[in-house]
Amino acid sequence: MNLVEAKNIWKIYGDSIVLENLNFSMKEGEFCTLVGPSGCGKTTFLRMLLGVENPTKGKLFFEGNDYPQEPSDERGIVFQRYSTLSHLNVIDNVIIGLEFESSKFFGKLFGSKKKEAYEKAEEILKAVGLQDARNKFPHELSGGMKQRLSIAQSLVKKPKLLLLDEPFGALDPGISLDMHELLLDIHSKLNFGVVMVTHDISEAFKLGTRVLVFDKVKVDEKYPNRYGSTIVNDIDSSKERKNVKK
Ligand SMILES: Nc1ncnc2c1ncn2[C@@H]1O[C@H](COP(=O)(O)OP(=O)(O)OP(=O)(O)O)[C@@H](O)[C@H]1O
Ligand SMILES: [Mg+2]
Repeated sequence: MNLVEAKNIWKIYGDSIVLENLNFSMKEGEFCTLVGPSGCGKTTFLRMLLGVENPTKGKLFFEGNDYPQEPSDERGIVFQRYSTLSHLNVIDNVIIGLEFESSKFFGKLFGSKKKEAYEKAEEILKAVGLQDARNKFPHELSGGMKQRLSIAQSLVKKPKLLLLDEPFGALDPGISLDMHELLLDIHSKLNFGVVMVTHDISEAFKLGTRVLVFDKVKVDEKYPNRYGSTIVNDIDSSKERKNVKK
């Protein structure tokens, strides 16, 4: 079964066509990277996969069913900018998502649930290499550490689909390389599906089992918004990925 399927998706804002007749499907555990010019609709597409944006036309399916109309723990997202809460330390930043999940009204966990949540959070902090920073506050973390924390916040909920919108775009090159290792490692262990937007082609081929190229098929120079983008290339990059030295 497909984890995600998009059939003839269109996204139109006013008289501006952003996505045009886009078709896409991915299986669980696939790692799709997405590249394309600025403004071509990559973030818009991710927001649809998260469940916070609807297609104007066409249909989206999650595990064969109609797409859920709201975000859920099955789908997590990490943005370029950090999503950490400054008044909470590292471990509580991870816990907060679980607290909202289990107790929408009170936002607090008690007793055995609390213990379980801390155990889950410790486990995920270890996976992203932040176990020694559990009591630090976001302002005490480097950019790479903050982004590890953002990833931990999503992963603690065990999503089936992780969406990443240029997550390493703001990091120094050396730190990005560490983050690549981290992402490949946790993906191979936890095997969630990934759709990751990047501006960096070599990153796209290094991390993705598939590289999707978004672009317009037709262009009208007088009316730039007349035509939208679609997937113009869907490249199997699993070989390149295996050749990457770790
Ligand atoms: N809520 C909205 N209302 C109107 N137009 C929107 C909205 N969201 C996005 N757009 C437009 O849709 C187009 C695609 O935007 P999107 O953010 O998806 O592009 P992108 O491919 O992620 O670009 P970038 O690489 O710069 O991040 C842009 O022209 C943008 O102005
Ligand atoms: Mg974007």
